[in-house]
Amino acid sequence: MTKVIISTNKLCKTFSNGGHQQHVLKNLDIEIYEGDFTVIMGASGAGKTTLLYALSGMDKPTLGTINFYNKNIEKLSNDKLAIFRRKNCGFIFQQMFLLDNMSILDNVLISGLLTSGDRKGITARAKDLLIQVGLDEKTWRKFPAQLSGGELQRAAIVRSLINQPRVVFADEPTGSLNSAAGKASLDVLTEVNVKGQSIIMVTHDLKSARRGNRILYMRDGVIHGECQLGRYISGDKERHDKLKAFLSEMGW
Ligand SMILES: Nc1ncnc2c1ncn2[C@@H]1O[C@H](COP(=O)(O)OP(=O)(O)O)[C@@H](O)[C@H]1O
Ligand SMILES: [Mg+2]
Repeated sequence: MTKVIISTNKLCKTFSNGGHQQHVLKNLDIEIYEGDFTVIMGASGAGKTTLLYALSGMDKPTLGTINFYNKNIEKLSNDKLAIFRRKNCGFIFQQMFLLDNMSILDNVLISGLLTSGDRKGITARAKDLLIQVGLDEKTWRKFPAQLSGGELQRAAIVRSLINQPRVVFADEPTGSLNSAAGKASLDVLTEVNVKGQSIIMVTHDLKSARRGNRILYMRDGVIHGECQLGRYISGDKERHDKLKAFLSEMGW
């Protein structure tokens, strides 16, 4: 039996926008399974980013509960939540910037050294991951301001993976990458998933979505449908057709 790692009960998130209450997540009950590469799709404004923030404990829900590794994380204090996240989660979010006054390599190392004292191991792992996403030695000593958007995005991917988190949350991780860089980054995510790390990824992009084994489609704050694709196999046409059929059924 597959283990449930995150489950929500009647999860709601409401924003007040100029006196108007906007219900962005509406009584969501969802389960995320260990080892899955879960993909969340849906139109812009459907609530995907809000859901990712709630599931990962980056933001508190308005109502409802989130059980994550047998902890009700909505009840944790901000300090406890920060420790929980550091221990278990990696984040690839657009809004999470690298530190300006540190080189790319140091940005990655500092994240690793927050949870591990093994400087040698962390450094080797950092360099290995940087190379895998296509950031060569010339970029390691550069500062964030000296890199392109795509290079920054790849550095953020490496930073999120340096601690080998049990769960990786990614919001459009290949959004600003060209196709070669996007493929390299998706290959890294697929590889860590094959090794057992769970991934929850929001994407608009079919090439990215194909990497998932379970696709959730979100509309107006609820999960409108889901599709089991099985494990990613490069070039599997049947799988690709199944995803396209599902998305067309969802009105994508
Ligand atoms: N911090 C916030 N304050 C007010 N409204 C928000 C906030 N975050 C998101 N929203 C609103 O919630 C809706 C869903 O946003 P979001 O979760 O970012 O959608 P998606 O990621 O699917 O495009 C949007 O209408 C957005 O304007
Ligand atoms: Mg979004």
